[in-house]
Amino acid sequence: MRNIAIVTGASSGLGLRFAKLLDQGAGGPLDEIWLIARSAEKLDEVASDLAAPTKVLALDLCDPASFKAVDGALAAERDLNVQWLLNCAGFGKFGPFTSIGATANGNMVRLNCLAVVELCYSCLLYMHAGSRIVNIASAAALVPQPGLSVYGATKRFVLDFSRALDRELGDAGIHVSAVCPKFMDTAFLDRPGSEKALASMEWIGFEDPDAVCAKALRESLRGKACIITAPDMCVANGLCKALPTGLVMALQGAVGRTYARHRKKNGR
Ligand SMILES: NC(=O)c1ccc[n+]([C@@H]2O[C@H](COP(=O)([O-])OP(=O)(O)OC[C@H]3O[C@@H](n4cnc5c(N)ncnc54)[C@H](OP(=O)(O)O)[C@@H]3O)[C@@H](O)[C@H]2O)c1
Repeated sequence: MRNIAIVTGASSGLGLRFAKLLDQGAGGPLDEIWLIARSAEKLDEVASDLAAPTKVLALDLCDPASFKAVDGALAAERDLNVQWLLNCAGFGKFGPFTSIGATANGNMVRLNCLAVVELCYSCLLYMHAGSRIVNIASAAALVPQPGLSVYGATKRFVLDFSRALDRELGDAGIHVSAVCPKFMDTAFLDRPGSEKALASMEWIGFEDPDAVCAKALRESLRGKACIITAPDMCVANGLCKALPTGLVMALQGAVGRTYARHRKKNGR
């Protein structure tokens, strides 16, 4: 069997880091790494830095035709085992729901949710006991997010979908993990939509994307379905479960407003 890994969002950020880690053997032996994102140029650059053979699929995962292209590429292979599927492609726009606009709101759902479902479905046909799916959610999935309403809800979808699918597939020896990191300094934050909405959320803090990816692979290999990478977010998750959701949302809003006022006062 030919073992492959498929990484979406492989042109930057987490996807790029996962591709490098897999190339270094962090996920076991692989015969090929498939790299998916829109930018063919960036993917070619990533591919040229990897030692493993690669297949570059420059696809817009908001476009349903892209899933047919992935299906075609999978069907063209013989004796294939998809050992890893890492769904990292995603984006988030900050700000009030109506100011974000229909296209961006719809595309967040298409990319962050629909593409994850479609690719899990396509790849499961080629997975075997020991295969792993890693879906990147977010700490934003832990509680509803005013000012990031669609993005937060897409990440809650990823979290709940991954946990349920992990249970469904447990007997087959296939594990699905949702990863819930805090903010990380990647291109994700380059065009946030509303700087003001982003600033009011930054009190949550940042994580190191390299550490997040390494931990995600380790915990996925252990079969963990929900990977909350930062210790303080594990505590926050406990509070979200123990307290009424409305209260957690009110507390989160109050902390965000205080933080934003403090930032403004200090001219940041
Ligand atoms: N960074 C953070 O603060 C943070 C925090 C929590 C969760 N996350 C999640 O982590 C995941 C990875 O984000 P990141 O931080 O690595 O951001 P990033 O550096 O912006 O990477 C996003 C990746 O997705 C690809 N992509 C975007 N739109 C696409 C589309 N329509 N079709 C195919 N590929 C597309 C991008 O490549 P192209 O532009 O070439 O298509 C890029 O490779 C996302 O799901 C994000 O929601 C990020």
